[in-house]
Amino acid sequence: MRVRDQVVKMAEVNFLCVHKKLRSMRLAPVMIKEVTRRIHLENVWQAAYTAGVLLPTPLTTSQYWHRTLNPKKLIDVGFSRLGERMTMSRAIKLYKLPTSTLTTGLRKMELRDVPAVTKLLRNYLSQFAVAPEFDNNDVEHWLVPRENVVDSYLVESQVTHEITDFFSFYTLPSSILHSQEYSILKAAYNFYYVSTSAPLLQLMNDALIIAKQKDFDVFNAVDVMENESFLKELKFGQGDGQLYYYLYNYRLSWPLKPSELGLVLL
Ligand SMILES: CC(C)(COP(=O)(O)OP(=O)(O)OC[C@H]1O[C@@H](n2cnc3c(N)ncnc32)[C@H](O)[C@@H]1OP(=O)(O)O)[C@@H](O)C(=O)NCCC(=O)NCCS
Repeated sequence: MRVRDQVVKMAEVNFLCVHKKLRSMRLAPVMIKEVTRRIHLENVWQAAYTAGVLLPTPLTTSQYWHRTLNPKKLIDVGFSRLGERMTMSRAIKLYKLPTSTLTTGLRKMELRDVPAVTKLLRNYLSQFAVAPEFDNNDVEHWLVPRENVVDSYLVESQVTHEITDFFSFYTLPSSILHSQEYSILKAAYNFYYVSTSAPLLQLMNDALIIAKQKDFDVFNAVDVMENESFLKELKFGQGDGQLYYYLYNYRLSWPLKPSELGLVLL
């Protein structure tokens, strides 16, 4: 991770989970202590993590936004509600997307694109106060498309064959409880992107179109990076959830706005 101009080796802690039957028995602190011990053994003394709960002391607080792709299902299961003066048919019309993408030269990322994507992403992330320092291995690990895990697309110039733009989203389904009709909510989460030639708004609109083609019900994002520039225009609605970002054993001497953060955890 880079914090302003200091690069610090950090662990990323993610996927903390305790079995439902063992909740509220203070196992989480035990697991956190153990993962901390193991990270220390690797000679790493700082870490980055996120949580939906408020703990001491967030680096920044981001808001969840949701772009409805399948209004009928989201309303049927109670994920969203029809607003005043809104009918189901109006909602379906409101969230309708074109059937094919709009950006010329858009294609799926492949393994051979790793160096070009790394270069693009490193350059883009350098503008944020706090952001990961990706190398080719990180990009290969996190961003090469994997069915039902991560989708990544890029724009290749038709003339120079240069890679100019990129976007990605990851898949995280949720269980739907107490529904006769549905058992899984298929959610896509906005991941990393870079826009240098196509407008970011258009790239993100293409991300929504692809997510819809792949039968996702909702496309989620938090307001980090430059996300605020497209959320409202692309009909994301603000959710009631917050995502708190934390650094372990690293104190920033100034408060950080979400738009100054270039970090998204899977
Ligand atoms: C998050 C989870 C592991 C917490 O376990 P739990 O059984 O509810 O809580 P425990 O009794 O073990 O521990 C409670 C302590 O853990 C802390 N805690 C809870 N969630 C935490 C989180 N995501 N990160 C760090 N600490 C957390 C609480 O603040 C509390 O500590 P405190 O009393 O010092 O404030 C559990 O609720 C879970 O598996 N949830 C589903 C998966 C999930 O949401 N994971 C987190 C993704 S960010």
